[in-house]
Amino acid sequence: MRTESPRAIRLEEYRPSDYLIDRVDLDISLDAHATKVRAMLAIRPNPEGTPGAPLTLDGDELALEALALNGETLAETAYTCQPDRLTIANPPRDAFSLTIETVIDPTANTKLMGLYRSNGVYCTQCEAEGFRRITYFLDRPDVMAVYTTRIEAAREEAPILLGNGNPVAAGDLPGGRHFAVWDDPHPKPSYLFALVGGDLGSVTRDFVTKGGRAVRLAIYVESGKQERAHYALDALERSMRWDEDVFGREYDLDVFNIVAVSDFNMGAMENKGLNIFNDKYVLASPETATDADYAHIEAIIAHEYFHNWTGNRITCRDWFQLCLKEGLTVFRDQEFSSDERSRAVERINAVRTLRARQFTEDAGPLAHPVRPREYREINNFYTATVYEKGAEIIRMLKILLGDDAFACGMDLYFARHDNEATTVEAFLACFARASGQDLTHFALWYEQAGTPRVVVSSHYDSDKRQYRLDFAQSTPSTPGQPTKDPLVIPIALGLVDHDGGALDHRAEGLSDGVFVLRHSSDSLIFRDVDARPVPSVLRGFSAPVRLSLDLDDTGLLTLVRHDSDAFNRWQAGQNVATRLLTRAARDEGDAAGETATQALAEALGSFLDAQAAQDPAFAALMLTLPPESEIAQEIGKDVDPDAIHRAREALRDTIARALAPRLEALRAIPVAAGPYSPDAASAGVRALRNIALDLLVKADAAGIIEALAAQYDNADNMTDRLAALTSAVHSPTVPDALRQRLLTDFRNRFDDEPLVIDKWFALQSGRAEPDTLAAIAELMQDTAFSINNPNRVRALIGAFAMNNPTQFHRADGAGYDFLADQVIALDARNPQVAARLLTAFNSWRMMEPGRRAKAQAALERVASRDGLSGDVADIVQRTLD
Ligand code: ARG
Ligand code: ZN
Repeated sequence: MRTESPRAIRLEEYRPSDYLIDRVDLDISLDAHATKVRAMLAIRPNPEGTPGAPLTLDGDELALEALALNGETLAETAYTCQPDRLTIANPPRDAFSLTIETVIDPTANTKLMGLYRSNGVYCTQCEAEGFRRITYFLDRPDVMAVYTTRIEAAREEAPILLGNGNPVAAGDLPGGRHFAVWDDPHPKPSYLFALVGGDLGSVTRDFVTKGGRAVRLAIYVESGKQERAHYALDALERSMRWDEDVFGREYDLDVFNIVAVSDFNMGAMENKGLNIFNDKYVLASPETATDADYAHIEAIIAHEYFHNWTGNRITCRDWFQLCLKEGLTVFRDQEFSSDERSRAVERINAVRTLRARQFTEDAGPLAHPVRPREYREINNFYTATVYEKGAEIIRMLKILLGDDAFACGMDLYFARHDNEATTVEAFLACFARASGQDLTHFALWYEQAGTPRVVVSSHYDSDKRQYRLDFAQSTPSTPGQPTKDPLVIPIALGLVDHDGGALDHRAEGLSDGVFVLRHSSDSLIFRDVDARPVPSVLRGFSAPVRLSLDLDDTGLLTLVRHDSDAFNRWQAGQNVATRLLTRAARDEGDAAGETATQALAEALGSFLDAQAAQDPAFAALMLTLPPESEIAQEIGKDVDPDAIHRAREALRDTIARALAPRLEALRAIPVAAGPYSPDAASAGVRALRNIALDLLVKADAAGIIEALAAQYDNADNMTDRLAALTSAVHSPTVPDALRQRLLTDFRNRFDDEPLVIDKWFALQSGRAEPDTLAAIAELMQDTAFSINNPNRVRALIGAFAMNNPTQFHRADGAGYDFLADQVIALDARNPQVAARLLTAFNSWRMMEPGRRAKAQAALERVASRDGLSGDVADIVQRTLD
């Protein structure tokens, strides 16, 4: 029997709540198994709702202990109560108070939504619908209230008690208990509620806002790990300053607290004044964290902090508007990282993520608009589309309007909608107003799913000395959207001559180097052009589209050498490689391919000679081939992941051999003297040295195995140690004995470091070798593995399903069966993480028929289980439909 996924919620059915809650007074007495929650709600009818409507509060697995209305115990005939709802048939027509007592068991809460315990620390996660697991409530973001929270606990168990807002009182109680009271003056939806109780260490810093408010910043971590929180604290201070300087946004409470916990479903959460983080995005030391980990910490600390304005002060009317806060806040954190680091490198990395995660999602059965119209389980919509494509829409808006009008639009948004729960329409209206532009057509980006394809063809007329670019756009159909309309696509472009000079020819319709494609096709004509130029199109990746350009390898290699736009310099190299890889994977490799490979290697060689030393981080990206998932997308149907893998390995080895002497030189570029520092410049040098190491290992260069072992043994930081280990694990040229020695050493060296053991798990589950699945089965028995910890699950099982295409998509279907088994097992404990793992199947339809049939069978086996969670039922049904 097939579990039905929950009822669909539709955007068009949105209605304001019949009741509002203005104040919430919570009294929460923490206990491992019986936490008592007393909630006093100040409720009034909503003038915009239906007068006299029954009051229905949301609940989830709740048990009611007591209920009083205006202080009087409510007669049992006056209400009905179930674990998932509490209904009062005839509430008063005027304002009233409702006092609700519930008892919850945080230790038994394995879903990690609502109040739960992580390593003995009490913590909460309420977005999207977790508050209803704490008390009955109008658990929807357009019901905003001010909260006071009194928290009580055994002092020994939880000496630290934290809530939203500012601390207002604390004291001792009989029996070894104590309490703290927190007051949050800013109205907020329930999803931003949080509390923490535990025995935690902290690092603190004082911050003064531009306007003169003194703020005490603190990061709480597992006792003894305070040293590892300094980088996050520093990133927080820089984020606060940046939001003042760039967006004019100041912080608005006396304290800002961050707590790191080990068990967390997602990355982090922006609860008002009390962010709660997956500890992997807080804790860092040179010995345990890589440069990439430091960069992620910086970005996520910024992201959650920026939510204070884009998300908290201005929140979402309903969950369809999720991109209103997430897309905008991702855009803001990307801008922050670009200002703090290298803009070009940040952009390339953002686009790589977008293509790997969002383009894949958009091309599969789970494709949905940035603003969906319908959902069954909202937790399944915290997607790359809502986040990453949502950020791309904001970036396009900025390109279309220009920096000044965009800034005015943001200011107007903050001024108009502060303290509101609002919509995408209201957001866009601010930019229409600020710019005088009609954004109706642009808004289609929020509604239409699928990645547009833009085809550009070029025509040179030497008689007329005219150069013309013809553009055509189309968007493939997606589930529920069979036909598509043309979008407004900003295409930044320029012309380069064959010697690499920039041509500043103007064309009517090109303004500030941006052409705006609004129709299904259009053209751009350049006059007085003396010779056929090389077009550089979609500079900076100005729109989230797939571009096809009729440019041959010679033209692309000209761009690699000379384009003034760094993104397109990189992209041109990627395009040559993609062309070679798709041909080889389709078994169309030939002599022309060999010539093209040599030409690519030469272009990369001269690029390295000219620029590697100036911009090592960029050079490292130039040396990275497109991932296998991108080649699969390019091929599009009847995909054979083994053929793609073989093609990519072969091309990489050829390039490595051709560049070997230069790679040896790159290995010698010095990192700035002094102790390890995670700054972008030092990280860039390490990235380049380490990709050179990896390529030389793959090319089996003389002496390189010894160099790898030495780098591993002598590294004073995780970046270099892990890079050596990664090369050892993924390179067939490395002897088994060495690989085993290093893996064992790594395990022993970091035995009591769960976040490092995650790297060890992920490395082994990512090996493109036939025995990987068997190795994973064994690693699941490892004492360090626990199915209860989301980070462990993502490291061992998630990395396999998401980042190991040849083994997950094994021809015999064993990878699919394994994942199906794991999803079924995990679903009983943690549906959210189980549903997320299951999304690894989203490319099953483009596999060749044999794999497709095996994937379908595994999916159907999941779908036919009794008692699936709504989360997994929703994903499996959409994936199969
Ligand atoms: N708002 C959080 C962020 O973007 C994500 C929380 C999602 N949580 C969830 N259970 N769906 O940083
Ligand atoms: Zn967010």
